[in-house]
Amino acid sequence: MKRLLVIGIGAGDPEHVTAQAVRALNEVDVFFVIDKGGDTGELVALRKEVCERYIEDSSYRIVEVRDPPRDRAAKAYGAAVDDWRRRRSAVWQALLRDELDEDGVGAFLVWGDPSLYDSTLAVIEHVLASGDVSFEYEVVPGISSVHALTARHRVALNRVGGAVQITTGRRLAAGWPEGVDDVVVMLDADCSFRHLDPAGIEIYWGAYLGTPDELLVAGPLADAGAEITRVRAQARERKGWIMDTYLLRRSRSRESE
Ligand SMILES: C[S@@+](CC[C@H](N)C(=O)[O-])C[C@H]1O[C@@H](n2cnc3c(N)ncnc32)[C@H](O)[C@@H]1O
Repeated sequence: MKRLLVIGIGAGDPEHVTAQAVRALNEVDVFFVIDKGGDTGELVALRKEVCERYIEDSSYRIVEVRDPPRDRAAKAYGAAVDDWRRRRSAVWQALLRDELDEDGVGAFLVWGDPSLYDSTLAVIEHVLASGDVSFEYEVVPGISSVHALTARHRVALNRVGGAVQITTGRRLAAGWPEGVDDVVVMLDADCSFRHLDPAGIEIYWGAYLGTPDELLVAGPLADAGAEITRVRAQARERKGWIMDTYLLRRSRSRESE
């Protein structure tokens, strides 16, 4: 039976790769590397570096796959993502059928942890449901950008007995989520914290975490917000792309104390 490994490789530092991931990497015959195009070629390069650094027998193959384009301008966000996953699963289905021997081991290297804002597992389930190709698969956890962020700022993710919500920039732009005072924001193309009343909110922000370009800013949102907006715009201009994540920590409301 074909086997597929979904391996979390951490958020940018090759040293995020765990001992379990190294063991899994050494079982793989074919790596499927998704190239999203544009300037994120750097991320493809990091995946190759991980393979070169940790794999002892270099007889593995790397198959690069161009990701189908996604309609980012579509108003119906959920429908656009569903459509993109469907097209992606058709490409992966062909790969798993044609590029992997019956007893071969294939792998997808996933940025951060595969369970966090990543569609790899959903696309794999879609491929399996198609019934066109059969395989078993396993998931190896990785260090997520959220944990890279909290470690670099030396803060706990939650406060005592408190809840944390992980959300997107798009959702934060619609308002502070109900029932939580600690919010992690990912996938934010537009500094959505700008839409909040900054009173009583601290921000812990990080970009390119774990890489030589890493940027960190923390402080009261009223002061740090403007600095982050400026630093982020400069970095994005310089590199052509940016990945950033932040934790917003609001003074605790009375009901949660
Ligand atoms: C598609 S999600 C992937 C998340 C990933 N699975 C994880 O566990 O971190 C991409 C988002 O993760 C965050 N991210 C990933 N790597 C990052 C890094 N090195 N520094 C800052 N943010 C990062 C950013 O918010 C980015 O928009």
